[in-house]
Amino acid sequence: MLKKVFESLIYNPITKKIADYYRNTFQIDFQRNHFLDEINQNIAKDTYENFSSEISSSLLFLTRNKIRNYSISKVLEKSSKDNLFIECGVFEGESINLFAKKLLEKNYYIHGFDSFEGFDDNWAGSALEKNFFNKEGRLPKVKPNVKLYKGRVQDTFKEFIDNNNSTIKFLHLDMDHYEPTDYVLKHSKKNLDKDSFILLDDFANYPGWKNGPYKALNDNIPKNCYLIEAFGIFRSSSVLIRITNPLNE
Ligand SMILES: C[S@@+](CC[C@H](N)C(=O)[O-])C[C@H]1O[C@@H](n2cnc3c(N)ncnc32)[C@H](O)[C@@H]1O
Repeated sequence: MLKKVFESLIYNPITKKIADYYRNTFQIDFQRNHFLDEINQNIAKDTYENFSSEISSSLLFLTRNKIRNYSISKVLEKSSKDNLFIECGVFEGESINLFAKKLLEKNYYIHGFDSFEGFDDNWAGSALEKNFFNKEGRLPKVKPNVKLYKGRVQDTFKEFIDNNNSTIKFLHLDMDHYEPTDYVLKHSKKNLDKDSFILLDDFANYPGWKNGPYKALNDNIPKNCYLIEAFGIFRSSSVLIRITNPLNE
């Protein structure tokens, strides 16, 4: 009887569709897949070898939620109403609402940038194609202290930052790709100061990580100007970076 129920479940087209979605999106296989194991082990080893010293000197978090909560608490330790709090890559508003909830306690605003049309390109090394995360331009429901700016950051961010001389206290970058991350970092430099924080998503531990946000960080911020304060020990791991020296631009 149990066997029959189980068989009808695994051969059910809906179950198969759900399993395929998870397999593709999160690159998890339910059967032993030695090829995938080999890829994951090599990537993890490469990530570990690159950051073994940072990993032993920073806080380690096992989930995105934990590193996000820690980051915003840390940011709020020393901040003022004049500081800028920014997120690039808003999607359905999950992370910006988490930050906004904490910022609301001090009546601070957070600025959120997104095209709401998904990726500009395929994400090489994953199964996520161009336009993945496409909301067809629909804005998510957000807390009252969130201001949203719709459009590709390459079209919206410069005007915003050119009109703002305040220090960026918190910059959450979660657009997954090199180009928009590089663009925002390039145009943020003049507003980043000692003790500004950058939470950089999709930093390491996935195929092609060295060509993504990690590269954008290296291309824009010299290694002697920041410290990794917290490291996410999960796939597509995030890092919390604290600027230690002003970036002389
Ligand atoms: C991973 S999602 C963000 C998820 C969100 N931070 C969260 O955790 O709730 C990535 C977002 O980046 C946006 N994005 C990607 N490239 C962009 C670009 N060039 N300009 C603006 N938004 C972009 C996508 O539209 C998508 O909503």
